[in-house]
Amino acid sequence: MPQTPFVYLDNAATSHPKPESVYRAVDAALRRGGSAGRGSHEQGLAAAREIFSTRELLAEFFHVSSSERFVFTSNATQALNQALFGLLNRGDRVVTTSMEHNAVIRPLRVFQDQGVDVVKVAADPETGLVTIADIKAACLIAPTRLLVMNHASNVFGSLQPLEGLGRWCRQQGIVLLVDGSQTAGLMPINLDDLQIDLFAAPGHKGLLGPQGTGFLYMHEGIDLRPFIFGGTGANSHSSLQPEILPERFESGTFNIPGLAGLGAALRFLLATGVEQIHARETRLIQRLLNGLAQIADVQLYGPPADLPRGSAVSFTLDGMDPAEVGYQLDRLRVAVRTGLHCSPDSHRTLGTFPAGTIRVSPGFFTADTDIDYFLEQVEVLTKLPPRS
Ligand SMILES: Cc1ncc(COP(=O)(O)O)c(C=O)c1O
Repeated sequence: MPQTPFVYLDNAATSHPKPESVYRAVDAALRRGGSAGRGSHEQGLAAAREIFSTRELLAEFFHVSSSERFVFTSNATQALNQALFGLLNRGDRVVTTSMEHNAVIRPLRVFQDQGVDVVKVAADPETGLVTIADIKAACLIAPTRLLVMNHASNVFGSLQPLEGLGRWCRQQGIVLLVDGSQTAGLMPINLDDLQIDLFAAPGHKGLLGPQGTGFLYMHEGIDLRPFIFGGTGANSHSSLQPEILPERFESGTFNIPGLAGLGAALRFLLATGVEQIHARETRLIQRLLNGLAQIADVQLYGPPADLPRGSAVSFTLDGMDPAEVGYQLDRLRVAVRTGLHCSPDSHRTLGTFPAGTIRVSPGFFTADTDIDYFLEQVEVLTKLPPRS
């Protein structure tokens, strides 16, 4: 008997599958060999061209004129750490929100222990949204060096209001760092228009690239200290880290197969059109929200269905531990993520700490039938006899 295909609804962790061209690009780069900036032979030059082209595609995708302002990292966590450790000093003040991921919470905790003042703006306990007014008020209480916040929650999909915030931060002399992990590739983002100073994102989620890729965008005039030093393939005579971008922040051998894959993914996204992708994703989320709302015993969390949102949907089932629901869904060939999703603060904000929720996150290759199959399986679970 043919097995039911697996329904993958954990794209907020990492997108799956990738476009066919991504698999081909990774394979070709690995077979070709060569290390960018490490040799003027044909393979080395080809690898360097590949890295340059992926950087140019990122700049095109995010509407930035100078591609050297995109620094490659191995994930969003490394990009966020580079931004925070490159910028902050003892005595600084940082404003953030109660909806952040541990990739922001934990480094900030290190700074807090070293005398950095960290202020968390509380999000609305129903929607997980912060207001511009609350953020501005928190920033104005005392001189603030940095505002760091995510664009969309990885747990509840709450899409934070960035419109106008970048301009305001620049007027106030506050650096704005946005964690775009849950929106990059999933909705149009114009970094120039939004006047974002620092933008961190993974290459392996909405951007559809391979794992082991990510980047930090740094606007002109933002002066960061590198936190990794070493060989960059140029200026090898000097014991000083190069000043120029992107080399200043890119020591060590690149993940060339990964970045070749990310380049292929960006070509795919540009050819498809991010507006199209966003429209498709929105339709899937609506189908999911409507379906879940019709199942008795389902509690839905986060912004109401009529608000613009990110792609993560969180729910619980009355009388069932989220971990148990995740286990049962896995047995029914549906992949979701349960628990705290590396974001304990956001669960505290919406009252779902410590058991957490079941998070469902469709992606570009999710079909309507996948959503329907998932909803049917949730119905099945609600009819299971209670465990003694
Ligand atoms: C909002 C948010 N920030 C940061 C991260 C960390 O991303 P990465 O796993 O690429 O380091 C994630 C990943 O789940 C995320 O959702």
